[in-house]
Amino acid sequence: MAQDVQRTHYRRFSPAQRFEHFVLIIAFIGLAITGLPQLFAGEAWAQSLILALGRIESVRILHRFMALLLIVEVLYHVLSLAYKLLVLRQSASMLPRRRDGRDLLDWLRYTVGRLPERPRMAHYNFLQKIDYWLTVLSILVLLVTGLLLWNPIAVTGVLPGGAIPVAQAIHKNQALLLVLLVVWHTYNAFLKQFNVSIFTGNLARRIMLEEHAEELETLESGEQTPGASGEQVASRARRFWPVAIVVTVLVAAGLIRYLTYQQTAITTVPRQNVAIFAPDVQPAAGDAAIGGALWSTLRCPICHGPQATGGPEGAPALKGSSGSVGKTLTFEKFYAQVRNGSDKMPAFRPEELPDGYMAHLWAWLSSKSTS
Ligand code: HEC
Repeated sequence: MAQDVQRTHYRRFSPAQRFEHFVLIIAFIGLAITGLPQLFAGEAWAQSLILALGRIESVRILHRFMALLLIVEVLYHVLSLAYKLLVLRQSASMLPRRRDGRDLLDWLRYTVGRLPERPRMAHYNFLQKIDYWLTVLSILVLLVTGLLLWNPIAVTGVLPGGAIPVAQAIHKNQALLLVLLVVWHTYNAFLKQFNVSIFTGNLARRIMLEEHAEELETLESGEQTPGASGEQVASRARRFWPVAIVVTVLVAAGLIRYLTYQQTAITTVPRQNVAIFAPDVQPAAGDAAIGGALWSTLRCPICHGPQATGGPEGAPALKGSSGSVGKTLTFEKFYAQVRNGSDKMPAFRPEELPDGYMAHLWAWLSSKSTS
């Protein structure tokens, strides 16, 4: 051993790399929290989560915001890679090499006891490369399909209409795959050995010994690969930055143009104007007695009170002397409110509240009879 004192930790990640990883964690959690409930919108847990996040509109906007964070991170990653490869002329140590296949086989043989020693691996071992490239691939697929879904109408002007449902199907399945991948990564890279290097920047020697024995040997032998001189780096950097800045500005401008290109369903239609008055409902044909009975079986009394005279949830009186039904409220407005709901009131669909019931409810609400 060239060094007298053995160190317990070795530097592995720069502050910039740790910050990148932190941004990735935030973006991933944010995208999962806002994406999974959209994927499982039929489930009760998803609906509670959507409500907690402020309804589906805010969930969709938050999902896009988190996607934007991810896009910025991906662009930064590409830029910093370009800098390392082109200016610092570091070797592309994350690229798959032939030795990774050999390491994989040796590792399998070691695992089943056919080899006495673990393979001695370099700075990035085959498992980390698989992890990295699967993640990169997943993120690319999600970004491409997500961007197609971002401007669905404009996209179908260029691609066939089927592209949107296909993009959606791929986006959903890839998202689930990525969730699995991240769970595996969290176990394999962090929990299994309690490897906290991505947070502290330093990797424990015991883990180096197992996973990067070859690199550890180089480090401890004190050998250093001769780096480029400061002057060379500076002259390459002088050529790199102007190009990098121009490309970044162009990509950013293109992205901003694309991301703001189209207003989709998020903002185009005010909620209250969606429902169309059902012309075949005859409010006069309603039966007040049936309406009163219906009232107590529906969710309405929870908010509007058992006699529809207003309730604790801030729901207004509909019936009686201070009620709005038949006074400020026409049947048409009543119908639209119940079908569309509002920020504070759920929408009621025909499956739950058929059109015919509307007339009965209306009859009871306009009458003096109690339920
Ligand atoms: C979760 C509570 C809640 C439930 C359940 C609910 N409402 Fe409402 N409703 C409200 C609130 C709050 C308002 C006040 C206006 C607003 O915020 O939209 C309202 C407003 C209305 C209005 C408009 C009143 C006006 O004067 O403009 C009608 C009509 C109405 N509700 C009918 C119903 C009927 C019928 C049901 C059952 C099928 C029902 N509501 C269930 C909370 C509720």
